Amino acid sequence: MKRVQQQMPLFQRLTEFADRQTMSFHVPGHKNGIIVPGNAQRFFHSILPIDMTELPELDDLHAPREVIAEAEALTSDYFHADHSFFLIGGSTVGNLAMVLAACSPGEKIIIQRNSHKSMMNGLELANASPVFIAPEYDEAVDRYTHPSVETLEEALENNPDAKAVVLTYPDYFGNTYDIQKMIDLAHAYQIPVLVDEAHGVHFSLGDPFPASALDLGADVVVQSAHKMAPAMTMASYLHMNSLLIAKERVAHYLHMLQSSSPSYPLMASLDIARAFLATLTSDRLTAIFKSAARVRGILQTLDGCTVLPVTEKDDPLKITLHVKQGISSSEVANIFEQADIYPELITHNQLLFIHGLAPFNNLAELKKAIESGNEQLKISTNHDTIEITELFPQKIQGLVMSYQAMNEQGYIATPLKEAIGKVAAEAVIPYPPGIPLILKGEKINIAHILVMEQFIQQGITFQNYDIDKGINVYTGVR
Ligand SMILES: Cc1ncc(COP(=O)(O)O)c(C=O)c1O
Repeated sequence: MKRVQQQMPLFQRLTEFADRQTMSFHVPGHKNGIIVPGNAQRFFHSILPIDMTELPELDDLHAPREVIAEAEALTSDYFHADHSFFLIGGSTVGNLAMVLAACSPGEKIIIQRNSHKSMMNGLELANASPVFIAPEYDEAVDRYTHPSVETLEEALENNPDAKAVVLTYPDYFGNTYDIQKMIDLAHAYQIPVLVDEAHGVHFSLGDPFPASALDLGADVVVQSAHKMAPAMTMASYLHMNSLLIAKERVAHYLHMLQSSSPSYPLMASLDIARAFLATLTSDRLTAIFKSAARVRGILQTLDGCTVLPVTEKDDPLKITLHVKQGISSSEVANIFEQADIYPELITHNQLLFIHGLAPFNNLAELKKAIESGNEQLKISTNHDTIEITELFPQKIQGLVMSYQAMNEQGYIATPLKEAIGKVAAEAVIPYPPGIPLILKGEKINIAHILVMEQFIQQGITFQNYDIDKGINVYTGVR
């Protein structure tokens, strides 16, 4: 049977079921949206009637046989996967499951050093032995991007017994690289490649978007449908195309990690997001790209900043404003926030704006915000620049001790300067983007501390770091 991509079987089944106005003697407690207190009615009334539970006609995410199986099959057809799983815990749960599926305690995993924290948590849960490969600093975009092919090649030569290679593609800013070469290298050792493609669900739309890692031979690919496609927050996909990793192992960990009462609105939004992507016309895409170019042009007129150019390796819907030396990125962010314009991400030197998959219609407001911003920036003061190009002196690096050994140690909060030379008991993570600056189990060095001090000065916040107490470091005793 040819599967028709316009169809949204799960969403449709839910709406039909809701229209029957059945009597609920089951969970959830809002009883098909009847019990909703006060003002919550205003916002929740339309969605709660499809917030169902595993009734006979509605299938079961953990053993899909019917309408969820059909929706997942349409998804795998569209994304060219052997199998696609619906995720209701974000790419976070997909990353955890694929790492757990790939390795057993003590086994090696070669992993990009600047991976999302969910990957690091996956390593710890799996009690894996990570081999971190450091990203390169790309002067052209003034930030760390991805590891080089040579670094991966060396890591593979030294660790041919690794159970997986874990990469992030694209990065948060939509930047990609020659992942196909890396996939081929890993496959030459029969090592599977797991890809965190959280920011690339729309690469399925084809040129001029970069290719999806799934089409380039990756074994497992996780995508946050909610980041670039119109799915609800947390709704994500895990796709598989692998002879090296068993689908059953991934399913096993998804069963363990995902709720036993998965949200039907989230799952239906995955159906909707896939149909949306599959039916976007080329005319509509042209209008979207024109709009992105216009937004880019307007942002370019902000003083003290430049918009980074888009190459064929970049997602054309990601617009990065690079803040010139001497100007604080949080001051620039403030200009936008005063006008109720919120970028996705602010780092010490860049602001990321994500253009949606529809033309943006508020150009006049954006222009106005920039004009008033240009007035304010004229009177802004100078700030120190942050030097981060030497952050990862070692290209290939393990942890100082195993996760098991870490578990058996005590730890204490220590002021920044005194933490140098000690082993971090918790990852230190500037948020967003949620990528650790210091890894749990890594020896803290002077470069880490200098960068942290400068980040703090610029008002960048960290997870797992209490400015009054310091960094948690291992003490050797419990
Ligand atoms: C690279 C990367 N991977 C994974 C995640 C987690 O995705 P989710 O929010 O879908 O759990 C994020 C979140 O920002 C991310 O940036």
